[in-house]
Amino acid sequence: MAKYLTLDDVNVKNKIVLVRVDFNSPVDPDTKKVLDDTRIRAHGETTIKELAKKGAKVVVLAHQGRKGDPDFIPLKQHAEILGKILGTSVKYVDDVFGEKAQKAIKELKNGEILVLDNVRNFAEETKDGTPEEHAKKELVKALAPLADIFVNDAFAAAHRAHVSIVGFTAVLPSVAGRIMERELKSLSRVLENPEKPCVYVLGGAKADDSLEISNYVLDNKIADYILTGGVVGQVFLVAKGFNLGKPNMQLLEEKKLMELVPGVKELMQKYSDQIKVPADVAFEIGKKRREIPVERLPTEYPIFDIGTKTVENYSEILRRAKSIVVSGPMGVFENSEFVYGTKSVFEEIANSKAFSLAGGGHTIAALQELGLSNKISYISTAGGALIEFLMGKKLPGVVALEKAAARKR
Ligand code: 3PG
Repeated sequence: MAKYLTLDDVNVKNKIVLVRVDFNSPVDPDTKKVLDDTRIRAHGETTIKELAKKGAKVVVLAHQGRKGDPDFIPLKQHAEILGKILGTSVKYVDDVFGEKAQKAIKELKNGEILVLDNVRNFAEETKDGTPEEHAKKELVKALAPLADIFVNDAFAAAHRAHVSIVGFTAVLPSVAGRIMERELKSLSRVLENPEKPCVYVLGGAKADDSLEISNYVLDNKIADYILTGGVVGQVFLVAKGFNLGKPNMQLLEEKKLMELVPGVKELMQKYSDQIKVPADVAFEIGKKRREIPVERLPTEYPIFDIGTKTVENYSEILRRAKSIVVSGPMGVFENSEFVYGTKSVFEEIANSKAFSLAGGGHTIAALQELGLSNKISYISTAGGALIEFLMGKKLPGVVALEKAAARKR
């Protein structure tokens, strides 16, 4: 049984329900337009729609960007987008918890939806704290007395111990929304007793995250294989003793990824059969793709992809997999000469009968570009929260919901 309560455990009719969602979306730095509505759609079509349909007075609380950054904008556009997605009018107030916001909340009728302004306008929002500490903050003190129930649907922000994520759980009946529930359930399929063999495909540039995830899922016997690609694959090759050649080694130095090599080496010694590194790599000569086996390294050209033999090796493992996690592309998929590795590996995953879970901005972009998104069992809405979860870390937002449920039971 889940350790947190859900929308199934509460009666929301006639109630004022405060819902923390994660509407944080990419924003064009010049026009300030929201560029992608995936997260707004996800929360809108599930939790928010369900609450409104059940007759709740829905108050939506969310953040966008970080103070000082170009994507730190009000949530007016998000409210409009939500209205379009739901085909209904969604109210918006340019206030988070002041008089205007409180008046708008009190005026809500059953089934109506109100979006409050960017919660990060409240200067203390982004300070870390416990639910009890945060329950004393102005934001919670102003809004909690008006609300009957708190719903945390913001899995993607659950790695933050921020005021609006954990504060309300100390003072209001608190449950997980449908997206929070869906994320946690899907993640448990690849982290708690996954169907075996379980394969983690780790690419992209975040080698530090990949090392930590690999450590966790191998030490805890969660993953049977780790397949590496992208810059992650390059760091693992260096740890295996390969000299990648000047431009590649230089890049790893610049990105401070060489510091990871001792840790990767140690991991590879422990799990030599389970960690797979590229058998060949592709680079560009005169705008054309060339491949060499890794035994022929170093190269004077920058590596942009894994090679054909690597794809073959990885495909063979993926074909036998029953659970797959994919985070990060295998190469520079934006360049048509180097989309091959990412395309082939992602197609293998998409065509597999295994339960597959994908996450991360670049992975999702590549899946979309390749037209494979709808063939992945679950695509996470989260970035940082997903990574921390895969590292085995407890997310403050989830822990707070569990604590609230334990008090209730
Ligand atoms: C995210 O997009 O990862 C979340 O919304 C958290 O945003 P943050 O990193 O600014 O806290």
